[in-house]
Amino acid sequence: MLPSIRDELVAIANVAGRMMLAADPSVDTADTKNNSSDRVTETDKAIEAMVQTRLATKYPLISFLGEETYKNGDKLADAPTFICDPIDGTLNFIHGVPNFAISLALCVEKKSVVGVVYNPARGDLFTAVKNQGAYLTKIDGTTSRLPLRSVPPPMNSLNDCLIAVEWGNQRMGPNWELRTEVAMKMMTSKAAGGAMTHSMRSNGSAALDFCYTAAGVVDGFWEAGVWVWDVAGGWIILEESGGIVASANPGDWNPTLEGRLYFPVRAAKLEQQEAVVQELWALMGDR
Ligand code: IPD
Repeated sequence: MLPSIRDELVAIANVAGRMMLAADPSVDTADTKNNSSDRVTETDKAIEAMVQTRLATKYPLISFLGEETYKNGDKLADAPTFICDPIDGTLNFIHGVPNFAISLALCVEKKSVVGVVYNPARGDLFTAVKNQGAYLTKIDGTTSRLPLRSVPPPMNSLNDCLIAVEWGNQRMGPNWELRTEVAMKMMTSKAAGGAMTHSMRSNGSAALDFCYTAAGVVDGFWEAGVWVWDVAGGWIILEESGGIVASANPGDWNPTLEGRLYFPVRAAKLEQQEAVVQELWALMGDR
């Protein structure tokens, strides 16, 4: 059952990818949600409508939660639910930066069990099914199991890590203060009280940051203030690659709508991942 759902999500992602590549976002009536950096295009909406229609036709009993049709107060329930971010990285899509992806997931009891993240501009397709591993299929048709590097570099502290960070669209308030403070500490020299990571990277798509962590391209991804559709697809891909997701949402490590602070990491050993997570919590202080 789950592999056939993955195959259907891949087929849908391919249609969505063609819609993204055919669109000219500069002529879309790019709409603004909360502020000038919170954008949605006609393509986001058209893709979500296509995804919802196809899924409802094939799986009428499975619920649906999508970024563009979400209404304040909607909750992720325990019942099987498809989760859709039609274009994660909408700002990249609008500006022509080739880091954007459709992210699709099936969640059961609020946990991702199937994930598909597809970046049509690069031709990267990331997939995972619970207990069946995570994979990257490239534009040349080659498929590799994740992580891509079987012997990752030693990772004993944040000091050994390349960390992806994103800035989101809330540019004031608690999440923004936390993001900027922690990011600054991640860059600051140890001698000056920071963690001095190798460096930070902002790819502009939380879904792809989860996948890059799963691939071992970066060692972790930090962001305060993401939504379930940003992370649900990448979550199972990361877990199936051997990574963990730490959430500061007390006692709840599931991608619920309230789980707004995530730190997925991947390393050779679980204790290394946990050590790095503890270090991050220390950087956050009592926030
Ligand atoms: C956003 C991107 C961005 C991240 C935001 C997300 P969207 O998704 O993943 O990198 O910083 O938190 O909401 O709006 O492009 O689907």
